[in-house]
Amino acid sequence: MPGLFDPIQIKGLTLKNRLVMPPMANGFGAEDGAAGDKHIAHYTARAKGGVGLIIIEHTFVSKEGKASKGQLGLDDDKLIPGLKKLVDAIHADGAKVIIQLNHVGAAASRLSTGMQPVGPSEIMHPKGSELPHALTAPEMKILAVKFGEAARRAAAAGFDSVELHGAHGFLLCQFLSPYTNRRTDEYGGSLENRLRFPTEVIREVKSKLGKNVPLFYRFGADDMREGGLTREEGKKAAHKLEQAGVDVLDVSGGLGGDGQRNQTEQGYYVPLAEGVKSVVKIPVIGVGHITEPEYADRIIREGKVDMAAVGRLLLANPDFPRQAAEKLGIKLEY
Ligand SMILES: Cc1cc2nc3c(=O)[nH]c(=O)nc-3n(C[C@H](O)[C@H](O)[C@H](O)COP(=O)(O)O)c2cc1C
Repeated sequence: MPGLFDPIQIKGLTLKNRLVMPPMANGFGAEDGAAGDKHIAHYTARAKGGVGLIIIEHTFVSKEGKASKGQLGLDDDKLIPGLKKLVDAIHADGAKVIIQLNHVGAAASRLSTGMQPVGPSEIMHPKGSELPHALTAPEMKILAVKFGEAARRAAAAGFDSVELHGAHGFLLCQFLSPYTNRRTDEYGGSLENRLRFPTEVIREVKSKLGKNVPLFYRFGADDMREGGLTREEGKKAAHKLEQAGVDVLDVSGGLGGDGQRNQTEQGYYVPLAEGVKSVVKIPVIGVGHITEPEYADRIIREGKVDMAAVGRLLLANPDFPRQAAEKLGIKLEY
């Protein structure tokens, strides 16, 4: 079995190793969501440190789906040049880079957007500040197209692909979760119906990416909340997402945010990812307080996950990948 520092090929994308920087918002974005020099300095430091793949933080696809001030945006063509500079700089430092597309749905705050939040149902979101407007089917079609447009812009900026944010209680996760989705039309009820909107978004986004470009999906595989998506139903959903055309599942969880973040157990979401991997054929990313190179290498060699994401440690120590290789006795040629 391959290890942490072996390459992996996913469709037309080859990663030099299996160490991933997961998406982490930093609030450096300009008022309109533009990327700037701070992003370049932040991300190229991690690329120089030897990480194989950088997943740029969540980026709003539409203004009412903006999470907070300083968030990056992809809702307008004028944002392409700033992102292209960032992508070129990261590529020059030897890492591949994709960007996470998000709409926070009912978790949005009027303070950030100036608008009423939208969601699958008129249900108070665990992290919401007011009741959302329940999206109509025509409004959903418009939103799916906006995700597609954001993917088109990402491709124009030179990103190697995109990741859809389907975790942490944001819009795609809200549709899948029986806690936030109480619809009685074809977008609610059964698992298939709750996946209908995410599937439409997947279709739109894939239509804007090249055939050989793998689509990543940050998947909330367990809501960890009474009345939410269970781990067992999450596995069924993972299989359906694979059938819908997702090429990589980046497994996380928690309807009210990545709720386990306070945990200090090594690899706290890895068992969740392992469960997902047992029902799909596509590669799976594991995350959650991964700090030991030996542990990251072992979970890949044992076939529990295909890639390991290291978040906060990479923020603290951009050179972690090189140090990890040295600790594992591996000589890197980059
Ligand atoms: C400051 C910060 C910002 C984050 N922003 C995002 C985000 O934009 N999208 C996302 O899917 N997860 C986000 N996360 C979750 C991380 O991707 C990751 O799953 C989490 O930090 C657990 O990994 P770690 O224990 O290695 O840090 C964020 C985490 C942190 C600490």
